[in-house]
Amino acid sequence: MRTQVGIVGAGPAGLTLARLLENAGIESVILEARSREYCEARIRAGVLEQGTVDLLREAGVGARMDAEGLVHHGIELQFDGVRHRIPLSDLTGGRTIVIYGQTEVVKDLIAARLESGPPLLFDTPVETVDVERGIVRHAGGELECDLIAACDGFHGCCRAGLPAGALREFSREYPYAWLGILASVAPSIDELVYAHHERGFALLSLRSPTLSRYYLQCAPDEDLDQWPDDRIWEELRTRTAVEGWTLEEGPILERLVAGMRSYVCEPLRHARLFLAGDAAHIVPATGAKGLNLAVHDVRLLAEGVIRFYESGDESLLDAYSDACLRRVWRCEHFSWWMTTMLHVPPGGDPFDLQLQHSQLRYVTSSHAQATALAENYVGLETV
Ligand code: FAD
Ligand code: PHB
Repeated sequence: MRTQVGIVGAGPAGLTLARLLENAGIESVILEARSREYCEARIRAGVLEQGTVDLLREAGVGARMDAEGLVHHGIELQFDGVRHRIPLSDLTGGRTIVIYGQTEVVKDLIAARLESGPPLLFDTPVETVDVERGIVRHAGGELECDLIAACDGFHGCCRAGLPAGALREFSREYPYAWLGILASVAPSIDELVYAHHERGFALLSLRSPTLSRYYLQCAPDEDLDQWPDDRIWEELRTRTAVEGWTLEEGPILERLVAGMRSYVCEPLRHARLFLAGDAAHIVPATGAKGLNLAVHDVRLLAEGVIRFYESGDESLLDAYSDACLRRVWRCEHFSWWMTTMLHVPPGGDPFDLQLQHSQLRYVTSSHAQATALAENYVGLETV
């Protein structure tokens, strides 16, 4: 089998790239290790930056997002039992975020791809890639391509298969994780609440008018069996309590423990192979950046690929790594900053807590600080 661009992985990065290339008349084949059902059921991100929304819309896959996505104009930071609103739109010249699950984005992209016909092969795990010759090997055979897009997530095979010394890697582990739930109950909040509490961070988010998505800071090796529903709700209530407000409970449909890590590798190009999305970088989820960064990467990659096929000019492909990494590092910093400001380190050193409170008071009282948070949260246009 032969194609122009071989895409490994049908997550947001691979599917969006394929769509952008298809719209420009460039052939691609997507190879995905898992089944369609698995990909469409995986619950992850929920916050789309305006740039992501605009791109999905322009790519012709935004109709359901426009109908069902919830536009938000602010978020709340809570500490000392009081909530402080950060008016995102007012501080960023009208930019907004849209609450629309990654699961739904992926479903929309898969449906569009299958409808238009080019290959999207599920249950086809890639085993190795030859980055010099442009060959992708899987159990069923080989795919020969001009270019390979490694969109296979953090645990994929493409980055792992690069020769030792090919990458410079930067990483940070955090001594905490998130216990996340999806609950069948109307969200008790109008806007996302990021809560600092001495017992640990909590986040109140949502997926729709009838689905709530809530998170609690926990240990990286937290045992979910120790968390019966009552304990989860009790802990959420304690960490997010404010006077005169009640957290409504409902059946818990899904629960998970998600680790936290920062990671970047560079460069993002190796001969014919281009790394994009979580295959190239990871951020802790506190800044809501992972999905948005993945989409930004493939936007730049698609521009480079299109220019290459239009005129043989490789300059944008050559510039891809540096151009991506500028935004990646801004998001790495923002995500690290939000994470360390809001999570209580194990042991809860009183010095750390004082620094966090001081920073939270500053962010919620200084126009300049709140603007910096808002600009980063909605996604800076130029970084
Ligand atoms: P992935 O979604 O990981 O997709 C990679 C694909 O490659 C997968 O389908 C995988 O099966 C496939 N694959 C792997 N190996 C192979 C192989 N060998 N052969 C073929 N296919 C392979 N981000 C945000 O922007 N906002 C948020 O609010 C947010 N919240 C999050 C909450 C949680 C709990 C988690 C876990 C993540 C969150 N993220 C968030 C991060 C976001 O989900 C990821 O950054 C995003 O999924 C990255 O997309 P991707 O396409 O690069 O990688
Ligand atoms: C989510 O709704 O899953 C979510 C929201 C905001 C974050 C992370 C995750 O920062």
